[in-house]
Amino acid sequence: MDSGQEILRKHFKQVKLVADPEELLEEVSDAHAIVTRLKAIDHELIESASLLKIIVRHGVGTDKIDIASATEHGVLVAYTPESLSTSVAEYTVGTIISLLRLIREADRSVRSGNWNARQHELIGTELSGKTIGIVGLGRIGSEVAKRLNSFETNLIYYDLVRQPQREKKLTIKYFSLNSLLKRSDIVCLHVPATADTMHMIGENELASMRPAALLINMSRGSVIEEKALVDALSTNRLRGAALDVFDPEPPLLTNPLLQLSNVLLSPHMSGHTKEALSRTSVEVADAVIAGLSGKRPRHLSNPEVLTRPTKPQRKTNSSCDCTL
Ligand code: GLV
Repeated sequence: MDSGQEILRKHFKQVKLVADPEELLEEVSDAHAIVTRLKAIDHELIESASLLKIIVRHGVGTDKIDIASATEHGVLVAYTPESLSTSVAEYTVGTIISLLRLIREADRSVRSGNWNARQHELIGTELSGKTIGIVGLGRIGSEVAKRLNSFETNLIYYDLVRQPQREKKLTIKYFSLNSLLKRSDIVCLHVPATADTMHMIGENELASMRPAALLINMSRGSVIEEKALVDALSTNRLRGAALDVFDPEPPLLTNPLLQLSNVLLSPHMSGHTKEALSRTSVEVADAVIAGLSGKRPRHLSNPEVLTRPTKPQRKTNSSCDCTL
C-alpha cells in the first residue's frame, strides 16, 4: 500500500479505491473527499457528491477539475505541486540528451547488428554551449534550469510574469516568447493548461524556431497546435521533439506523430518515479487531512472557499469517507 493511503486509512473510517472511473459517480455520493490523479472531476460529479468538502489532485495540474463548480459548491480544490518537480526536471534533461545523442537510435543499431552506424548516423550534438529557452519558469521550469546550468548552457526564459529573483539565482535571461523561439536551440515547455496557454505554440511560433531546434513538451498537449507540429516535423522545418503529453490522451493510434521518427514519445509519465509518487501520496494525504479538519491545505486553487463559503460548512471529523 502506498504511504499516503496508509496515512489516510489511519485517519478515516473509510477509504475507498475506485478502480473503474465509471463507478465514481455512484461512489462519491457519501464521500467527504475525492483524490484524483487521472479522472476528470466535472460539474455532474461535484453536484452528486453532496457531502464533499475537498478534491485533491494527485499532481500539479488542476485542468481536469471543474474549479468553478467546486467553488460554487463550497468545495476546496487542493493540489500537490512540489513533489513531482525533480522527476519531471530529470526526465526533461533525459529526453534532451536522448534526442541530441541519438540514444534510441544507438540502441537499435547495436540490436540490429549495425555497429558501423557509429561512424556516420550516430554522430550526435553536444548540449554544452546551446541556448535553451524555458517557457514557464515556475517550479518545474526552475528545476530544469537548475540542472541545465551544470551543462554549461545559455539559459533564457519566457513567462507571463517576470521572475527577477529567479533570473538572478538561475542565471537566466528573460525574452519575449517570439525572441526566445528565434534564439533557442532547444525549447522546453513547462506551463499549465489555461486559456492563455492554449495553442501557445502554433504555426507562426514553430516558423519562428530554428530548423535545427528541438521542442520538448512535458506540460500539456493543448499548449501545442498538434497539426502545425506534425507539419513542421515531417517537413524537417523542425529537427525533433520530445512529447510526454498529448491532446487528447492517450493519442489515437492514427495520430501522425506516432509515425514520425524524429519524435520521442512517452505516455505522460515524466513525473512518475517511485520517489515522486510516494512524496505525492503523502502530500495528498496531508491535504485531505487539513481540508477535513478545518485547516488550510498547503496548495489551493480556490482559497476563496475558505473565506467566502457559498454553502454551509459541514462539521467534519475522522469518521469521514475519502474516495480515491
Ligand atoms: C502531471 O502532469 C501533473 O499535472 O501532475
